[in-house]
Amino acid sequence: MMNTTLYSSDAFLVEGGVRLRGTVRVSGAKNASLPIMFATLLTKEESVVENVPQLLDVENASRLLSMLGAQVERCGDKVVINSERVKSFETPKEIVRRMRASVLSMGPLLGRFGRARVALPGGCSIGARPIDQHLKFFASAGAEVRVRDGYVNVEVGRKRGVRFRFDLITVTGTENALLYLSTVEEESCLENIAIEPEVIDLVNVLKKMGAHIEIEGRKALVYGSSELKGFVHSVIPDRIEAGTLMVAAVLTDGDVILEGVEPKHMKAVLEKLSEAGARIDNLGGGRVRVRKGSRTSPLEITTREYPGFPTDMQAQMMALLSVAEGRSVIYESIFENRFQHAYELMKMGAKIEVRGRSAFVYGVDKLKGAEVNSTDLRASASLVLAGLVAEGTTIIKDIYHLDRGYERLEKKLNSLGASIERLPSVAQLT
Ligand code: EPZ
Repeated sequence: MMNTTLYSSDAFLVEGGVRLRGTVRVSGAKNASLPIMFATLLTKEESVVENVPQLLDVENASRLLSMLGAQVERCGDKVVINSERVKSFETPKEIVRRMRASVLSMGPLLGRFGRARVALPGGCSIGARPIDQHLKFFASAGAEVRVRDGYVNVEVGRKRGVRFRFDLITVTGTENALLYLSTVEEESCLENIAIEPEVIDLVNVLKKMGAHIEIEGRKALVYGSSELKGFVHSVIPDRIEAGTLMVAAVLTDGDVILEGVEPKHMKAVLEKLSEAGARIDNLGGGRVRVRKGSRTSPLEITTREYPGFPTDMQAQMMALLSVAEGRSVIYESIFENRFQHAYELMKMGAKIEVRGRSAFVYGVDKLKGAEVNSTDLRASASLVLAGLVAEGTTIIKDIYHLDRGYERLEKKLNSLGASIERLPSVAQLT
């Protein structure tokens, strides 16, 4: 009986048993590019964002800015944006559904127009991901916040400074607040903020635009300006793509040099990778050599807000640990449902026990190629990694999840010796 399967989007065919060798360049950070692109809404001057990865999420951010009335032009790794003619302050449902980070338009639109109407981002497969902290901040800053028909309507009369403490650490919540307060010509203080490198990259852009921002620990002092200027800024390297490529090198017992890396953004990841058996040499100049070393001890990983171990590297580490000897434990403290890749890895022979926010990974000698589903961005990356080292062929479906956050990952891995074929969407496979 031919079991043909219809795919709703591209699939990957991954041949296992390769050893990656060579040099690969890491792209600019997705999660820095997005808030920085939205910062261009705060000025009527032209801005140039450089080292921007070619990703679905970046395309969606460009599309949203154009829908709002901005001129957006992609030239190679640069995006040139002029928001002078932006008139609309509404971010519609269809764009938010495709990219929940569109919620980052709320702070800039409120700062620019005194009002914003943004569709509520739903949850996604890794969790409910509410934006209550974003709305609590805007309300505390004196805005009127009304949620109706799936939209958040925010309106502020006289802008004033605010002292606000986040109840929990939120990356885009912090970014939304900083984007808005950069337009408020009074002293403000934010406490319990996120300090991910991507947040700091946004702060550096807002300072170039003319906002005064000081970060002390998890506190930000902000004095904004009503005349923010255009800017030129090169986005920091993507520490999660770098970590993903490092895991690929270790998993395949390869020898890979990554270029364009910022090791100081990756301390927790480099530490855990070394513990998990990686041999990492910082060659300087943004170049890092990664090989397989010797495993030291069963691993315990708890995801934490930066500078702790990033939740966006959790799935990739699970792929690595599923073929490392001994029992490892992963505790996912950030998102309530970020272990779906475990069930797909189990289809490949991984031995993993999921209990609530803990996953117990019992290393096996070999994974076997299988047909698996991508459920979210980093889960799909972990399945590609597992496919590289599995026996036989792995078919990974719904690769659009991967395309949201990785720039041509299969091309980068194939340039290192991998054998990954992209099957066009709606392909019939036996
Ligand atoms: C950012 O998402 C990143 N996305 C995520 O990367 C990343 O996983 C996450 O930060 C954590 O580091 C972008 O920067 C575009 P949070 P964000 O607000 O800001 C809860 C990827 O793989 N929370 O820091 O949405 C929330 O539910 C993506 O590139 C509230 O309860 O994450 C979560 O459990 C995935 N209320 C925790 O806080 C709020 O108002 C952290 O969320 C906000 C958040």
